[in-house]
Amino acid sequence: MPDTVTARACANIALVKYWGKRDALQNLPSAGSLSLTLAALSTETTVTYDDALEHDILELDGVVASPADLGRTSAFLDLVRSATGVGIRARVTSRNEFPTASGLASSASGYAALALAATRAAGLTLTERQLSILARRGSGSAARSVFGGFARMRTGSTSEEAYAEPVASPLLDRIRMVVAVVGGGTTKTHASRDAMEHTAATSPFYNAWLELVPRDLEAAEAALAAGDLEALGHIAEANALAMHASAMTARPAIFYWQPTTLALHNEVRGLRACGLAAWATMDAGPHVKVITNDEDAPTLAMRLKDIEGVTAVTISAAGPPASVVDTVSPISIVSLG
Ligand code: PMV
Repeated sequence: MPDTVTARACANIALVKYWGKRDALQNLPSAGSLSLTLAALSTETTVTYDDALEHDILELDGVVASPADLGRTSAFLDLVRSATGVGIRARVTSRNEFPTASGLASSASGYAALALAATRAAGLTLTERQLSILARRGSGSAARSVFGGFARMRTGSTSEEAYAEPVASPLLDRIRMVVAVVGGGTTKTHASRDAMEHTAATSPFYNAWLELVPRDLEAAEAALAAGDLEALGHIAEANALAMHASAMTARPAIFYWQPTTLALHNEVRGLRACGLAAWATMDAGPHVKVITNDEDAPTLAMRLKDIEGVTAVTISAAGPPASVVDTVSPISIVSLG
């Protein structure tokens, strides 16, 4: 039985957002969601079970993790331990290969990579669906990062039915996201898990959000099937704004927008009026991700990086599914340059 395994997973950005859960312990979503996994935002995680350890150890980006992060990871590892009957503690090292150190969807890639590495290192090979269900327990959006390309999250009526699955689309090769980082990725924001709970509990518009999601999902999936980037972009932008409207109207308000965020939205709208493919989405932070195509992505990236307060701009194509990393080949790839 192997006791050390390294896995890699890519972050995903939702086109129709997950914002609220019906069961906080199991991370069961209140509605479905739809996302694109991004090649440029990946996490690599190594798990080693070691019977000499008295407790789990977690290192994130080369630094010993906070007790809160360790607690969350240990609770997740307990799920794997109870499934395998293996009680041994683990050493976990995780590294985000992101354009900046923080503020982008790292819990999605992080828990997808951890789910894969922790189960394989315990000698357990799960199906993609089982892996998606397990990753969901770490972070709702992580269920989608098990898959490459477009993924749809199902609400399901039980835990076993709440998993993500891939969605085919002729847009897969052409779609790009331009990720514009605001404030160096270090701006302090409300964690999404608390923010969605607070929004659901206090926003007078939360029910409207829940009514909107199934309609947006249906329209977005039709756009994916038809290969209609424009229709998909409009739905994604409107859906993200609706999510933020619900957060802004929570009491007290949750406000992720910075002046640079608004400037980015204005630029995207202006470029779109000039004929470029450009639609903005955002998550639980001030950064803006622009949905576009391979042809327009470089122009957009050039324009967005000049906006004051934008500290990094990355163009990403669709990313691959979570996978176990061959411990030999990455080194040879690096040395070949
Ligand atoms: O998976 P969580 O708990 O970090 O929630 C993700 C929430 C959003 O990023 C705002 C939306 C989404 O669907 O990814």
